[in-house]
Amino acid sequence: MNQVLRDAVRPIRADEWPKAKELRLLALKDPAAPIAFLETYEQAATEPDSFWQERAKGAAGGTRARQFVAEGQDGAWSGTVTVLIEDAGSGDVFGGAVQQRQAHIVGVFVRPEHRGSGVIDALFETAVGWAWSVAEVARVRLYVHEDNTRAESFYQRYGFVRSGETVPMKGDPSKAEREMVLDKPKVLSDIS
Ligand SMILES: CC(C)(COP(=O)(O)OP(=O)(O)OC[C@H]1O[C@@H](n2cnc3c(N)ncnc32)[C@H](O)[C@@H]1OP(=O)(O)O)[C@@H](O)C(=O)NCCC(=O)NCCS
Repeated sequence: MNQVLRDAVRPIRADEWPKAKELRLLALKDPAAPIAFLETYEQAATEPDSFWQERAKGAAGGTRARQFVAEGQDGAWSGTVTVLIEDAGSGDVFGGAVQQRQAHIVGVFVRPEHRGSGVIDALFETAVGWAWSVAEVARVRLYVHEDNTRAESFYQRYGFVRSGETVPMKGDPSKAEREMVLDKPKVLSDIS
């Protein structure tokens, strides 16, 4: 758990888009990428700078999205998660309709050499805490591929439970992406 003490979790700044791009491309080269992310390295690598600039700008402030990174004392980023705020009636990343206002965690990645160190717990503490601070967000959800047992083990350890909802995996409909949810603790709901 020493990593938690060393790496500070914070939102990215808009001007850090080159670093956000670098970490995303590394994530998309991970052996787990085909079951972890919806886009491919090949797709992302051809995006122009303006794509990464817009993405970083949109996730650096406001109440629609926030990208968090864990940063070591040397300035290196060891992991990242992004929180999207979804409104009831809007379309989600799978093309379905969102049933209720909620937060959706995507882009979960820890560099291989930092896995098992507690970095992911620190990232989720901050990311989920931010979600609870956004008005009228009472639920955080995410999707995990049925074969991504390592990620699902962490989500369960953190308190997420399967909702029972699934969507077919893009490109391989024989496999499912399982929705997992975490409800806002009642003690926080009562004071917000
Ligand atoms: C998912 C991810 C962020 C989790 O972070 P992490 O530091 O690896 O997580 P942890 O090691 O703290 O927890 C993972 C759990 O799975 C267990 N585990 C480790 N290797 C495993 C494996 N091959 N199969 C199943 N479980 C495994 C760990 O023991 C741990 O279990 P525990 O909570 O009972 O101790 C990280 O592994 C990662 O970046 N993976 C690649 C990208 C990815 O899959 N993202 C998620 C998309 S939904």
